[in-house]
Amino acid sequence: MRCISSEHIARKYNFFAPWYDFWTGFLDVLGVGRLRRQMLKNVYGRVLEIGIGTGRNFRYYPPVFITGIDYSREMIALAKLKAQKQGMNIALRRMNAERLHFKKDEFDIVVDTLGLCTYPNPVKALKEMRRVVKKNGLILLLEHGISHWKIVQRLQKKMEKKHYGQLGCSLLRNHEELVKKAGLRIVKCERKLFGIFYLIEARK
Ligand SMILES: C[S@@+](CC[C@H](N)C(=O)[O-])C[C@H]1O[C@@H](n2cnc3c(N)ncnc32)[C@H](O)[C@@H]1O
Repeated sequence: MRCISSEHIARKYNFFAPWYDFWTGFLDVLGVGRLRRQMLKNVYGRVLEIGIGTGRNFRYYPPVFITGIDYSREMIALAKLKAQKQGMNIALRRMNAERLHFKKDEFDIVVDTLGLCTYPNPVKALKEMRRVVKKNGLILLLEHGISHWKIVQRLQKKMEKKHYGQLGCSLLRNHEELVKKAGLRIVKCERKLFGIFYLIEARK
């Protein structure tokens, strides 16, 4: 299937931004919110969140300084408003996940939730995460991808073309494999919610 460029995907998210919290709110109620909380409750030090969107994770962070990036201007604008309302200690910048403007070994923790499904080259983005995280740092991922349940896989394969065309979001990525391809070491990988959600902790 033809891959959509980062610029095109960012334009799609500019368009969806006003409705994003409404639709993702359902997913969070169905269990994704609980997974966000589980993943973020112990983060520490300098944290970078990639593809931060409208800031759906803000409420789950302990009081640490966060740097957040996203390629969509409108998503970042909404994240800024939310950060102000919630009094977050945060710096938000527009940036491409596949070309991070940060130095090597800058962050203790790199977080990405529901982002790898949209980056045109997820392995490139993961390699960038690997570059900017410290040697003993941690990469925390909560991603949706191909299920290991055959019946769910069949449905995902049927929906892929339309879903990717509309949202620039692939349903078929295997994040465990992508993380390994990027040269990262998986410390922990759990599959949740019919095997669709991947909760991964990885190190350099
Ligand atoms: C499905 S949303 C996830 C948002 C948020 N992380 C969450 O958990 O709700 C995907 C986000 O990735 C952003 N994005 C897509 N491609 C990107 C890229 N190449 N670089 C940075 N952000 C990107 C989109 O603008 C969007 O905000």
